[in-house]
Amino acid sequence: MSDVACSSGTFLKALPTLTEYPHDLLSGRHGIVAKEKQGGHRMTDLMIVVGARPQFIKTAPVIKEISSRNIDLTVVHSGQHYDPEMSAIFFRELRIPKPSVNLQSGSGSHARQTATIMRRLEATILAHNPKIVVVAGDTNTTLAAAITGAKLNVPVAHIEAGLRSYDLSMPEEINRRLTDHCSVLLFAPTKTAMRNLRNEGLQRMAYLTGDTMVDSLRMVMPVLRSREADLLKRFKLKSRDYVLVTLHRPSNVDDLDRLRRIQNAIKNVAMRLPVLFLVHPRTRERLSRIKVLEGATGREFTLASPQGYIENLALMKNASCLLTDSGGMQKESFILHVPCITLRANTEWPETLQGGANRLINRPGRMSREILRVALDEQLRTRITSLKNPFGDGRASSRIVRLLESSLQHLK
Ligand code: UD1
Repeated sequence: MSDVACSSGTFLKALPTLTEYPHDLLSGRHGIVAKEKQGGHRMTDLMIVVGARPQFIKTAPVIKEISSRNIDLTVVHSGQHYDPEMSAIFFRELRIPKPSVNLQSGSGSHARQTATIMRRLEATILAHNPKIVVVAGDTNTTLAAAITGAKLNVPVAHIEAGLRSYDLSMPEEINRRLTDHCSVLLFAPTKTAMRNLRNEGLQRMAYLTGDTMVDSLRMVMPVLRSREADLLKRFKLKSRDYVLVTLHRPSNVDDLDRLRRIQNAIKNVAMRLPVLFLVHPRTRERLSRIKVLEGATGREFTLASPQGYIENLALMKNASCLLTDSGGMQKESFILHVPCITLRANTEWPETLQGGANRLINRPGRMSREILRVALDEQLRTRITSLKNPFGDGRASSRIVRLLESSLQHLK
């Protein structure tokens, strides 16, 4: 896969033996839950809980790997994301089987959304009696599922453990810290994540597996290549001649003054280079309040709905620069060798900052100049192509499933 850099050397090669497992944590918890669930009927091996866009991507290769083994799996959708373009399309493109249960939690304040998922998931866990609950990432769904599993004494496994931005104003930072601390199996994507877990005393449960998003990217690369040309044609864009924009963090879009300044900066960029802005539902709602297109000038400024996984990656791969506040897209652009500007003060993926591949800018006033500088810098593009990928070799899912399988054997 020539477009995606790989390095396997640093990742877990030989899996730990069972003596290295957190035995007491796994068996102690499971013993209690089995007793409490006398009424429970079917015992499923694993229950994976997903709900928001990035989780479909992170778990797809894990689900695929589980399906190829003799492990009974129940997939639960929390319903946090429900628009077809935020949910169904990912199941189709990544060939994830339809979830057995949809909790239909929908939107709401953080407390309301998290609590609704917890209330509905508790009943589902009791009915399905899983041996391990698997969660991924850092959304409200992740936290709700981790707390619910842990409170029922079901061992919780966390995919993408150990990420830290050290910014507690981000809901995701709260979610990931609490999730790590109530999980007993922590699958870390990078060495930095392992170090963060060690610093919090969680090293006993932590395994360096690599990042499952690299596995997903590899899975779709051949299809992606076959769709690039059509997609560029559809949006009337030329390869390496446009800026791709996605923004959805509350810190950027909930403050309408800030959003207006961001919008002005993007319009300035559009005077020199075409801009394609893929608008998340949260952002769409906020933009509608400030009449975004009013006074739009420049070569081109296109607003479009969020795209599917493959389309989004293809548009990113061909962009001259990405402007985002997403965690996952910072990493994907690094792997695809596309320069990135992140509209945030910090990042949970510090590895992407090496060699100037990703830059943090928090002031909209500085944005347009920097975007144009980065987008037009051919040397930067060449330089970042040679950077080593610290996120894994595309085999994280197989390591994770082997660890889960060993844990299940121990729980039998
Ligand atoms: C969530 C995650 C974030 C992740 C992002 C990816 C949390 C705290 N945040 O943020 O980490 O990066 O997903 O997209 O879990 N909405 C729709 N249709 C949908 C889904 C949401 O219209 O299918 C609207 C909701 O009404 C709500 C807004 O979008 O007003 C935000 O949705 P929500 O799931 O609360 O958070 P995200 O901003 O998507």
